[in-house]
Amino acid sequence: MYTKSIIAAAAILPGLLVSATQPPSYPGFTMIWNDTFAGAANTPPSDKNWKTITGYLNQNSESEVYSSSTKNLFLTGSNSLQIVPLKDSAGGWTSGRIESVGSWLPTAGQKTRIEGRIRQGDGSTATKQGIWPAFWLLGTAYRAGTKWPECGELDILELRNGVPTAFGTAHCGTYPGGPCNEPNGKGSTINFGETSLAFHTWTITWDLTNKDWSSQSIQWTIDHTVFFTLTGAQLDQTTWRTLTANTFNIILNVAVGGDFPGAANSATQGGTGSLMEVQYVAVYMTK
Ligand SMILES: *[C@@H]1O[C@H](CO)[C@@H](O)[C@H](O)[C@H]1NC(C)=O
Repeated sequence: MYTKSIIAAAAILPGLLVSATQPPSYPGFTMIWNDTFAGAANTPPSDKNWKTITGYLNQNSESEVYSSSTKNLFLTGSNSLQIVPLKDSAGGWTSGRIESVGSWLPTAGQKTRIEGRIRQGDGSTATKQGIWPAFWLLGTAYRAGTKWPECGELDILELRNGVPTAFGTAHCGTYPGGPCNEPNGKGSTINFGETSLAFHTWTITWDLTNKDWSSQSIQWTIDHTVFFTLTGAQLDQTTWRTLTANTFNIILNVAVGGDFPGAANSATQGGTGSLMEVQYVAVYMTK
């Protein structure tokens, strides 16, 4: 009886029991920015931190229209952000995309880290053809008119079609072909062995401590395990600088359809099963 009433209280008061998943601290690093997505359920993310993108962007043959609706993009009230693609009765798609107001410059001579803790929804792969969640960085120069991919793009995490294979990719140089072999980019993948539910920590770290640009690196990790390393030596110095001496904006979105995942099909479902959920995003630098 006693036990039972405790459980009932817990069920009624989840807000009191949920504590935010805080970004970890790392020896030698200082956290310089973070968002833990605190706030009331069904409210938009902080507009001090994020610009909500709306409309049809006409990129990569994607289908979705980005919306600021809190049905597509909202705080959960349990210290996380959910981005939920939705299919309307005519078969059209809406979804959410936010881009950081701030931008960050990897520091010369130092290490700079951008990290997020993210999961994808638990829909089966049969219902997720075309679903394309992403946590990525776009060179701020893009906003000022520098063409893609010359502006630089670093995809910390991309998922497609509900498959538990993460893609970490750099885009650079010229399209098509060029030093990053566009449109593929230079990257790697990791199979993380489950389709859903579990949050994982996804990180990119620039290591610019080596004075020799060709020995500098950018590393991609899942749960602190490296799955891709790009070094200056794999590119030329001018291109390397576009990925290491430019400021970047952080982007969180769920696209639907497009060149990377292929089009959604009649079995593709919107809603919670196809969401991306984010517990925090943080930026760190060594001193
Ligand atoms: C991290 O986020 C919390 C909550 O918004 C804020 O109070 C704190 O100042 C942030 N820390 C840094 C280093 O940005």
